[in-house]
Amino acid sequence: MFTASTLSGSKPEQYAQLLEQARALLHGERDRIANAANLSALVYHALPELNWVGFYFFDGTELVVGPFQGLPACVRIPLDKGVCGAAARTRTTQRIEDVHAFPGHIACDSASRSELVVPLVLDGELIGVFDLDSPVRGRFGVEDQAGLEAIAQAFVHSLELEAA
Ligand code: SME
Repeated sequence: MFTASTLSGSKPEQYAQLLEQARALLHGERDRIANAANLSALVYHALPELNWVGFYFFDGTELVVGPFQGLPACVRIPLDKGVCGAAARTRTTQRIEDVHAFPGHIACDSASRSELVVPLVLDGELIGVFDLDSPVRGRFGVEDQAGLEAIAQAFVHSLELEAA
């Protein structure tokens, strides 16, 4: 049984604890659906002020929704659309303080005000994106970005086992 432990200390310390929990969850498992599902649940319940946490996977043409926590979401996102498309296309993290100010933002949940999307790239190939939405404007700072990029990297690393 998974027992959630409360995060404590400074933000970087909290993210270090969360990363440790993520690595423990992913340990020895290669299945991307299983790992994406458990990571979404872990992060959604561990961090405050989030209304959506989940994965979109690249099918070779566009992004298709994967495991997530939150309200039902848009199923397919072309790479030229939305914050997710921008992260996938540019392969750089998109940290959006106010989604209403982002041209082309796709509102899956009208409560969302800020968003962080981390691209997932394995051996130079786009796998998908890790997407977090918050009802609070400016919810994601640089420390959140660094912490969540490390968690996304742990997910990508778990898939490397697949090829081994
Ligand atoms: N807002 C995203 C779409 C996905 S939902 O947030 C779950 C975007 O603009 O790409």
